[in-house]
Amino acid sequence: MCGVVGYTGINQASPWLLDGLQTLEYRGYDSAGIQVVSPSGNLHGVKCAGRVAALRERAAAANPTGTCGIGHTRWATHGAPIDRNAHPHLDGSGRIAVVHNGIIENFQELRRELIANGHELVSDTDTEVIPHLIQEAWEGPAKGDLAAAVRHAANRLEGSWAIAVICADCPGTMVVTRNGSPLVVASTDDGAYAASDVMPLASVASRVYQLQDYDIATLTPDGQIKIVDREGRAVENPVALDIDWDASAAKLGGYSDFMAKEIAEQPEAIERLLKDRLGEHGIELDELSLSNEELAAIDKIVIIACGTSYHVGLIAKAAIERWARIPVSVEFASEFNYNEEYLVTDHTMCVVITQSGETADTLSAARRMRGMGCNVFAITNVLGSTAARESDGTLYIQAGPEVAVASTKAYTAQIVASYLLALRLGLANGSMTRAEAEKHFHDLEEIPTQMREILSRRWQDKQAARLFRDKHSSLFLGRNVNATTAYEGALKLKEISYLHAEAYPAGEMKHGPIALIEGGFPVVAVVPADHVHDKTVSNIQECLARGAAMIGVATDGDEKVAKLCSEVLWVPPVADELIFPVVAILHLQLLSRYVARDRGFDVDKPRNLAKSVTVE
Ligand code: F6R
Repeated sequence: MCGVVGYTGINQASPWLLDGLQTLEYRGYDSAGIQVVSPSGNLHGVKCAGRVAALRERAAAANPTGTCGIGHTRWATHGAPIDRNAHPHLDGSGRIAVVHNGIIENFQELRRELIANGHELVSDTDTEVIPHLIQEAWEGPAKGDLAAAVRHAANRLEGSWAIAVICADCPGTMVVTRNGSPLVVASTDDGAYAASDVMPLASVASRVYQLQDYDIATLTPDGQIKIVDREGRAVENPVALDIDWDASAAKLGGYSDFMAKEIAEQPEAIERLLKDRLGEHGIELDELSLSNEELAAIDKIVIIACGTSYHVGLIAKAAIERWARIPVSVEFASEFNYNEEYLVTDHTMCVVITQSGETADTLSAARRMRGMGCNVFAITNVLGSTAARESDGTLYIQAGPEVAVASTKAYTAQIVASYLLALRLGLANGSMTRAEAEKHFHDLEEIPTQMREILSRRWQDKQAARLFRDKHSSLFLGRNVNATTAYEGALKLKEISYLHAEAYPAGEMKHGPIALIEGGFPVVAVVPADHVHDKTVSNIQECLARGAAMIGVATDGDEKVAKLCSEVLWVPPVADELIFPVVAILHLQLLSRYVARDRGFDVDKPRNLAKSVTVE
């Protein structure tokens, strides 16, 4: 979703602002802009609908000059993605510029009030009220103190925001604040930086500081950052985050796109996650804030997530129920938040699964679970994310930055993380012996090798992608945990190739979706050599009888499937049925990527989507 960057220092601001916005492209956006202020107090901005590349062209022509500036990538919520609605937005005097992530819920009332006070607002956005409110405070009670003016304005806002502000009357000073939307700052020899996530800052700093809700930070060109809380008290020890990955982790490094890179990084991600997890006392999961006795007492688990992470939750449910014998419900965060009747026990644990750690619906649901007295455990990728900060315990999947909008490596790493949790719970409550847990752990250790094998077979996916040419719709089928493999495969295809994909439990297909099938209609059936294999084979036959072009995802050596399907995406044998979904999904990730590329789409930045969905 939207991204914020800001810089004040000894260098020209525009080059880093543009580079910073480029690093934030992965979040998804539809317009972008920058505004800089020169030391003599000239504000100069460029903004446009479309990509950062288009903004660069405009900036090259306009050459905005100044050593202090702010930038933004906007994902439209209020008002169409057109130049006029792109950020930064200015106040009525044209001297205060603001960029904003989040949503101002009371903007209609504020807008009416400002118009009644004689302000002229020129965009359709909720954001534009902010510079006008700052202007009123600047000219009124704040008496020319930018930080005070921002505090006055922020006190009028309802909703969520991460804001960066510059002003022609105090060139060199940038003020930033947040509530509910992340914002980090960094101090360097070249000046001070702000951004809505650590990604743009990784190239300039190794340590960043997180602002807390309502903190106000004033950044100056000497690199100083003064932070005060909502009462105006100095914040002496802001939360520091050390960036533990190299800036090159967020670069393409020879791959044609981030999705290809991230698919290929999965074996290493799983190796990192499993490292040192098998210890003297079984599965080491110190991130849990509960004692062995408390873990043993857990009698219900509620998993909260959205999208791909929700699919992780479905597979986690199978593992926890099988290995730890604890009943699990998996909830879409957006639905859970409005289910007033939700019941929990005294020993219910909430597991929040969120790659970004910033998904608004997931965060609200987790807060609600905490309010209901549950211990909240987060599985996330992003260090210091809101989900991590607000949970009782956090397991970082350590997959490294995921830049492509479609989640791939976070999906498989989150599944493996949830398996570690299942094993730990099973050991704590006596549902499994140490020897059994060790056996399952060793099965997990095989995953990287099996994944590498799939990556070496990518030609199969490329070949199968041809069956989707000129098609408008497709069907994905699977049973048991691999119904979820089908859901996730279909989601990937929809997201990046804009081709409709219906996913169904294979046995349910005949109750409706079978009507879709006609000659040449692509159907992907996930059919491992498991206890439901023959049932799924029957479903394949039902599809074939109606003319489907069948693509099987099957275990090496499965002659039945080989005979029936036009293409087979082969998966090496796995020791446990729960391993198959983690490994087989690589084929479906690769398949979606090939289909999308065949259609000429940008696989990293699919239309309408955002990497981190920070609005409800
Ligand atoms: C799909 C995808 C989304 C996210 C969803 C939740 O490829 O990435 O469906 O999984 O928006 O995001 P997180 O996991 O960050 O909460």
